[in-house]
Amino acid sequence: MLSIFMVGALLPVGVTLASPLVTPVGPMDLFKRISSGCSTSGSASCHNTTVQKDLCCFEAPGGLLLQTQFWDTDPSTGPSDSWTIHGLWPDNCDGTYEENCDPSRDYTDIASLLEDQGASDTLSYMQQYWVDINGKNEQFWEHEWSTHGTCYSTLEPSCLPSGSPKGAEAVAFFETVVKLFKTLPTYDWLKSGGITPSSSKTYSLSTLTSALESAAGVKPALSCDGSSLNSISWYFNLKGSLIDGNFVAIDAPEDGSCPSSGIKYPPKSGSGSGGGTTTVIRQLTYTIKGPGPTSGGLPSKAHITASTGGLLSAGTWSTQTLATYTLSGSTSGFTMSTSKGKCAVSGGTLTCGSSVSFASTFSAVSSGGNLLLAYGGSTAWTADATPSGTTQETVYTGSSHSEDITLSIVST
Ligand SMILES: *[C@@H]1O[C@H](CO)[C@@H](O)[C@H](O)[C@H]1NC(C)=O
Repeated sequence: MLSIFMVGALLPVGVTLASPLVTPVGPMDLFKRISSGCSTSGSASCHNTTVQKDLCCFEAPGGLLLQTQFWDTDPSTGPSDSWTIHGLWPDNCDGTYEENCDPSRDYTDIASLLEDQGASDTLSYMQQYWVDINGKNEQFWEHEWSTHGTCYSTLEPSCLPSGSPKGAEAVAFFETVVKLFKTLPTYDWLKSGGITPSSSKTYSLSTLTSALESAAGVKPALSCDGSSLNSISWYFNLKGSLIDGNFVAIDAPEDGSCPSSGIKYPPKSGSGSGGGTTTVIRQLTYTIKGPGPTSGGLPSKAHITASTGGLLSAGTWSTQTLATYTLSGSTSGFTMSTSKGKCAVSGGTLTCGSSVSFASTFSAVSSGGNLLLAYGGSTAWTADATPSGTTQETVYTGSSHSEDITLSIVST
């Protein structure tokens, strides 16, 4: 089922403008919001049947967009009756993705950039709803922009009206993410299905997903920190430009990391915007040094390495001698096994062993000369601690535990 959210559309659908122009949006704006001049009546991203030449008006290759939100309770962030913004990520149509696409546009001081270009309203909204778990909002925004925002083809500076100030495409990005988020009130949608935060109740994944699907018209992907609901991804394709195109809501192509039952939806403690003591920035991935394939091919035998150590035969993270993984398939989809057995992600945890009867499908993403291990299109993995000596840490999908891990596939 498709439904169309009109986001930032300043012109009736179908109107094509001869050239980019600048259109006012409201009396409060000191500056004018940029218009792309793109039509929104063509194919949605990932749905074209011919090669699209004008990538200023057609998002590619990252045409599968995820609006990701957090439900942070430990420490709690943001209003107690709202989920908060994580980002807007451009996945490729097959679920693989690019990151950090243009370091020359890794802007700093996003807050001033927004203020200077007339987006103070967007900034104040972000200060409430786009908040970092440790209170480092500025770093979090910079990270979301540099990691994901720089990968949008429709936000290339050359796509902007001539004379646009430096960073105008980042301002457009933050404005669009905020506008889109406002159309996705996850908290209210759960509440309309009778689901509100509770310290005692548990839900099945199908109950939560159905409640959201009946309110939104599409199925989101829910992810958990252990058994607690922690994040959601709403999926879209895009017609036109990220600046002012139409977002076409679609069903999540993959499940998130939540278990099928026993899911908690804990209340936010109400302690406000973080203040935790850890300094780990969520989703900040480590750069892996060392040999690795630079393109294309998937090795058939590999070690899976992290910044420290790597994976043992049971799928745990350790600094001990690394296991050999046997990979079969291609970078866009493969299964893995070790001497212990097949590997799967089950209940959000990576496991290899004889108890695994169905191997999960993983993918590999090229990044900075490395081939990164991904599950459900995401290369985010976490653990509770960095291992040392003979300790072994459980590896979780997603970003819900405290230590971020980037897993590289290194041919043996
Ligand atoms: C859709 O357009 C993109 C961008 O030009 C192109 O890479 C892709 O091959 C096209 N898909 C089809 C089916 O033509």
